[in-house]
Amino acid sequence: MITENEYKKRRDTLAKKLYSGSVGVMFSATCKSRSNDTEYPYRQNSDFYYLTGFKEDNATLVFVKEKNSVKTVLFLQKKDEQLELWSGKRLGVKEAKKRFLVDEIYTTDDFKKSIKEYLANKKYLYSDLDSKDKRVKKVLKMAKSIKTFANIVLHVQKMRLIKSASEIDIINKAVAITTAAHHRAMHSKKIGKHEFELQAEIEYEFKKNGAYSDAYTSIVASGNSANTLHYTDNNNIMIDGELVLIDAGCEYEYYASDITRTIPANGMFTQAQKELYSVILNTQLKVIEMIKPGVKRSDLQAKAEVLLTKGMVKLGILKGDYKELIKNKKHKKYYPHGIGHWMGLDVHDTAPYLDDKKKEIPLKKGMVLTIEPGLYIDKDDKNVPKEYRGIGIRIEDDILVTQNGYKNLSYGIAKTVEEIENKSKL
Ligand code: GLY
Ligand code: MN
Ligand code: MN
Repeated sequence: MITENEYKKRRDTLAKKLYSGSVGVMFSATCKSRSNDTEYPYRQNSDFYYLTGFKEDNATLVFVKEKNSVKTVLFLQKKDEQLELWSGKRLGVKEAKKRFLVDEIYTTDDFKKSIKEYLANKKYLYSDLDSKDKRVKKVLKMAKSIKTFANIVLHVQKMRLIKSASEIDIINKAVAITTAAHHRAMHSKKIGKHEFELQAEIEYEFKKNGAYSDAYTSIVASGNSANTLHYTDNNNIMIDGELVLIDAGCEYEYYASDITRTIPANGMFTQAQKELYSVILNTQLKVIEMIKPGVKRSDLQAKAEVLLTKGMVKLGILKGDYKELIKNKKHKKYYPHGIGHWMGLDVHDTAPYLDDKKKEIPLKKGMVLTIEPGLYIDKDDKNVPKEYRGIGIRIEDDILVTQNGYKNLSYGIAKTVEEIENKSKL
């Protein structure tokens, strides 16, 4: 659980980065229409949530920084019995004052008048400048005397790069739920069923354990569909002898997990599947072993490319010297994506990869990233030995960078051929 003190500490840290004589404005997410009279489930903007822990829409957080003081103000929806009857309870100003450690709280109706006052005589305005949100545009229009505009979310996203102990606790909980879901998928009967039936079992496990949402649309891709990286149709029937690539992770209390396992539909890998699987598993284990503070993501990427390419040469998928193959980007045909990404409030966390001088940020204690090598071989690829065609394999874990190395947060999910075969036994 993240305490109100921790949210306050985050706001204090952000406020210190703002110039004197500035106003910072951050808006909550807006509701998005799905079709007539229906909306997508509301999810708070990750940066707004990071600073407030507040889940309601129609809210605004404002920083007013003078020479020797900072004021934080939260605007939120006023209580409205009639609207609450339809859309659920609102916290309201009175209760919000008991909860949030901000300096002042008003209703959203007061925002327009207040922001005018805050902006008077200020030099700088910080907001989410890249957003298409109409509210941002309106505030920018009102800021007539302001000469300098800056993007507040860049500061927030830098802060999000290093996870606190309480954030890691929540990610651990998300991973534990996702662990149960992947093990359920391994146990489940798959042959003759649709991929979406397996997806339903995975997501049942998410919801049953208090994770109301997935962190991204689950991929349940059997056979050749695994070679479509963002396959989410999940509507094929799983066939005896095929592999099923499952990339599924729940979101728990706003924090993501992102796990991929590739498992046999019938519970047992074929010889060819084992051979290909062991190239990817060996790569993943070796890359994870490299993780410690100071190492760069590009080092991990390079290592993955070497190991996957060597493995493909050994299996006759690529022919030639592995260094030449990499130089000529021949491996990209089968390994087209990156080795991993930051993970946190967003599955692809919006924390930066480059510092202010555009140099790559090395790993530091408290960062969380995925490691997800894969190989994807189309069923019609005549350049590849027949037995490997139509197989797509990815293995993905969530890794915390520690003082001297790493902790694989998803270490508990069956991953070796033997572990997966054992878990698959009904
Ligand atoms: N599930 C999205 C990804 O692996 O990046
Ligand atoms: Mn991922
Ligand atoms: Mn994934």
